[in-house]
Order: sequence, then structure tokens, then C-alpha cells
Amino acid sequence: MEKKITLSVIKADVGGFVGHSGVHPELLEKARGILSGSPLLIDFHVTHVGDDINLMLTHELGRNNGEIHQLAWDTFVACTEVAKKLKLYGAGQDLLGDAFSGNIKGLGPGVAEIEVVERKSEPMIVLMADKTEPGAWNYPLYKIFADPFNTIGLVIDPSMHGGFNFEVRDLIDNKKIMFSAPEDIYDMLVFIGAPGRYAIKRIFHKASGQIAAVSSTQRLNLMAGRYVGKDDPVCIIRCQSGFPAVGEVLEPFAHPHLVAGWMRGSHHGPLMPVPLSQCCPTRFDGPPRVIALGFQLAGGKLIGPQDMFDDPAFDEARKLCNQIADYMRSLGPFEPHRLPLDEMEYTTMPLVMKKLKDRFIDLRTTKAKKK
Ligand code: F6R
Ligand code: MG
Ligand code: MG
Repeated sequence: MEKKITLSVIKADVGGFVGHSGVHPELLEKARGILSGSPLLIDFHVTHVGDDINLMLTHELGRNNGEIHQLAWDTFVACTEVAKKLKLYGAGQDLLGDAFSGNIKGLGPGVAEIEVVERKSEPMIVLMADKTEPGAWNYPLYKIFADPFNTIGLVIDPSMHGGFNFEVRDLIDNKKIMFSAPEDIYDMLVFIGAPGRYAIKRIFHKASGQIAAVSSTQRLNLMAGRYVGKDDPVCIIRCQSGFPAVGEVLEPFAHPHLVAGWMRGSHHGPLMPVPLSQCCPTRFDGPPRVIALGFQLAGGKLIGPQDMFDDPAFDEARKLCNQIADYMRSLGPFEPHRLPLDEMEYTTMPLVMKKLKDRFIDLRTTKAKKK
């Protein structure tokens, strides 16, 4: 049997530096120290985007492996200790509960895992975002894997011309459905155009059945039943030779789209593609950021990273994001900058309603009484 390599990307916010803007270097050092001592891993890379620590782990143990998830959990717990010592902001915020019980899913951290038989050359891009939610990947993933105006390979590369299958999750009702692109795209767009509820979980190359992309779809707030931060998502995409070219994967980010998140997880704002050096969102706790790290897998070793948005070709996108951010901010507490009532992570509505309840006059009852 051919050897299978798994790349597990597991992320959590276990304490911000300063506020919710970044990660203190001591936490990253702690994570690296723990992972470098693990016999389970072939290789690892630790990075951060905004206040989220991202662990990239390669191994031969497959997806949903208890030992790997335990290792990630223990790493986040150890980082939390450092965060507590430094009195960093929101220490341990994404770790729900105290005990690990076999699978890190449902405990707070976001998880995306891909298991592959390495090709002759295996380029991958890991996208990581801060101050937004899993559905933020819907728009770029659609463009990458289903839109010929973004991905010319869908038209002119015989190995891509058959299209891709999309697994879409209903994050509220916890259901999944498969769509086949291009045949089903009109049906699929009805759902993925509503990224607060429906999120693309996995994409498969139709002709070979091979996995092409996987995202994290954990919704922390739904798990915790209260606000504990947005569910800053990650996504792994295989590139080249039948999969989208590296440039086709990055292209959607040249046309920034609006995502939910930003300040207090309660605002729409543009998703800004940035190099690592610019990954800490500070203006109004944003605008939301995305980084893209490129790796070549070699026997499970992570050759890289290449900081893919560290390219002046994305300067105009960043500029446009700033213009959109200015405009959206000018709306202040009004929709569509502020999210609709049912999607906001923070609300004073029950409080204000209670205070004003006697000042509301029910017009229907008054009318009925008059009759
Ligand atoms: C959004 C985010 C921040 C915080 C904001 C208030 O995902 O992390 O915008 O929501 O800084 O934070 P607290 O309530 O912790 O003071
Ligand atoms: Mg935070
Ligand atoms: Mg975050």
C-alpha cells in the first residue's frame, strides 16, 4: 500500500497580544518546543495570524487521530499557561472545558486535515484568517474550483475540465450535501451564498475522486452556546497538475470580498490578503486578515513556507480593502456594516428591550381595543 501523509492544521486563540490583535512570541516558542519533542510527527510548522496560533503537523496517523489531537490540545494548554503568566488577553479563550477526550473537534480549536498519497511533487497552500468565520472561504473556493473567469484551467486543462465535487455543510442543522460543479452550480450558490450558515467543507477532483481542498468548519459559539470569539478559519488546498495552479488559488484574493467578523465579531468588512509581517489586525480590530503559506511536501516534510501574499501584486487589493474599510466604517452602527441582529456575537438587545418594554405600544392591540 502506498504511504499516506496527513497534514493537520489545528488552530486556537489562547491569549492575545495586545488585546485581540496578535500572539506573543513566547507562545509560539512554547508550541515549537513541545512539537519538536514529539515522536508522532514527521514535521511541523507553527505560525499565527492575528491572535490565532496555527499548528501545521504532518504525520502518518490519518485524520481525526486521537494522539495528534491530544498533542495539539496539550500544546494549546501549555501555551495558555504562558499566556496566563504574561497576563495576555483572553488566556485560554478557545479551549472549552478542561478535559481532552479523544478528538479536539467540539472543544474549541478549528481543524482542517488532509490525507494524501504524495504526488511526484505536492504543492499545497494553507490559508489562515483572523476576525472572520468558516463561510469566508465560500467565495474564494467557488472561484478557484468552479469559476472559469478565475481559473482558466477549468477551460483549457484537460485534467481539470471535468470539474470538482463540493461537500457543503449546514452548520446550524449539522447536515451535509454534495454538489457537482459545473452542473449543480446554480443550486449550490443558493446555499454557499449564505456563508453564515452554509460552508464548503471539502472539494474533490471529480475524475480521480482525489481530495483537493478542506476547510475548518467549527463554529465556536454554537459549541459553547455563548460568545467566545469568531471562528477564525483555516483551509488547505492542493495545487498544480490537475488541481488549480498556485496563482489560480491566490487570484480570488486580488478582488477582496466582504466577510462577517471584524470588531466584536459583529461587522462586515473586507478580507485583506497580507504577508505575515502585516497579519495583526489593529484598525477597529481589523479589517479581517488572510495569510497564505505555500509548502512543498517531501516525504511529509514541510518544505517552506513561502509567504504567498508577500507580493506587490496584492498591493492594489490591500488598497481597495482600505477604501472599503473606510466606507463601511462610515456606516457606524448601521447595517450592512453591523451584522443583522441574529448574526451578531455581541448584543444588548435583551437588556434594552427589557428596559423599554413599558414604552412599547402594541398597535394591533390598541386598534383591536378601539373597535
Ligand atoms: C473579534 C475580536 C475582537 C473583540 C473585541 C472586544 O473577533 O476578537 O474584536 O471582540 O476586541 O473584546 P472583549 O469583549 O474581549 O473586550
Ligand atoms: Mg482573541
Ligand atoms: Mg482570532
